[in-house]
Amino acid sequence: MPPPPSPFTLRTGIYPEIDPARLGGALACQTALVTGSGRGIGREMALALAQAGANVVVTGRTPKEVDATTKEINALEGTHGTAYGIVANVLDRTDLQRLVDESLGKLGGAIDILVCNAGSNLFQPFHLTDATEWWDLMELNVRAPVELTRLVLPSMRARNKGTLIYTSSRAATADLPWTTAYNCAKTAITRFAGTLQAEVDQLPALEDKTPDVANAIRCYSIHPGEIETSLHDTAFPQRTKDKAPYVIEHMAKIGAHRPHYEGVLPAWTVVWLCVPSEAREALKGKYVDCTRDVVEQSKAVAGKL
Ligand SMILES: NC(=O)c1ccc[n+]([C@@H]2O[C@H](COP(=O)([O-])OP(=O)(O)OC[C@H]3O[C@@H](n4cnc5c(N)ncnc54)[C@H](OP(=O)(O)O)[C@@H]3O)[C@@H](O)[C@H]2O)c1
Repeated sequence: MPPPPSPFTLRTGIYPEIDPARLGGALACQTALVTGSGRGIGREMALALAQAGANVVVTGRTPKEVDATTKEINALEGTHGTAYGIVANVLDRTDLQRLVDESLGKLGGAIDILVCNAGSNLFQPFHLTDATEWWDLMELNVRAPVELTRLVLPSMRARNKGTLIYTSSRAATADLPWTTAYNCAKTAITRFAGTLQAEVDQLPALEDKTPDVANAIRCYSIHPGEIETSLHDTAFPQRTKDKAPYVIEHMAKIGAHRPHYEGVLPAWTVVWLCVPSEAREALKGKYVDCTRDVVEQSKAVAGKL
């Protein structure tokens, strides 16, 4: 099955707008916290943000992976930001607070960029799902990023500076079968990003009584592209393999016809979203599909396409 029809140019890897040669160093002196960055898409994002000059906190539950990515960043050639590893479980409130406190300590007191990327999925027909597993996916993909935002947003508001990025999914836009919890979760976090943007835009006038000050905090949700990470294995639990092998066949058929998307595609799209530009302004609060040209998406939102 080819990618869904879209008026925008398909992108599968680096293209001129998000080229590291253009964006390298653009985030010098900025700080970033990327959840789920020990491996997979989050690792690519942390690497790209550091290559763009940001100091980055790498985090996840698996110490070995957090350590490996942190070391990999700090061993990069050329100019780059510094990485700090912090092991934390985003589902644990105490850990979440510690993650923010320790990040602020390592990053010099400010988190300029928060990427809520940690997430997971399970493919199984709804009638076979276990209630706890179903709601656990909502907790990881919705409650954790919302609660992390609650801890980080006040300091962004105090400085009137910050970019909040939520890793959503194409699942937020389509009734993909066998993944009800994930679809609901990614829809929720996408709406959260858009609604939060609408709120923070109004706060200077309504709450701070500073109508002349424009809010400078930007929120985005992104579809990173179907990237071959460990998620593509862990998403198929034994129950699905035993009782619903048709799910695996269905997903394999879809996968066979899909373009190969590179991890650098969402990673450098995230960097692009953190660098002020007219195009990123047009997209504030929006769901950004990394597999489609970002400038074309921004022109469409601005009514120029
Ligand atoms: N891969 C795709 O095709 C695709 C497509 C659309 C959207 N996404 C989204 O992209 C994001 C990253 O996925 P991925 O493909 O890179 O998957 P992945 O390789 O499985 O990485 C997931 C990351 O999240 C972390 N994580 C999971 N549970 C956690 C918890 N309770 N506390 C802290 N960290 C936790 C994992 O680290 P630990 O296990 O060490 O904690 C890992 O670093 C997810 O939000 C996913 O939904 C992926």
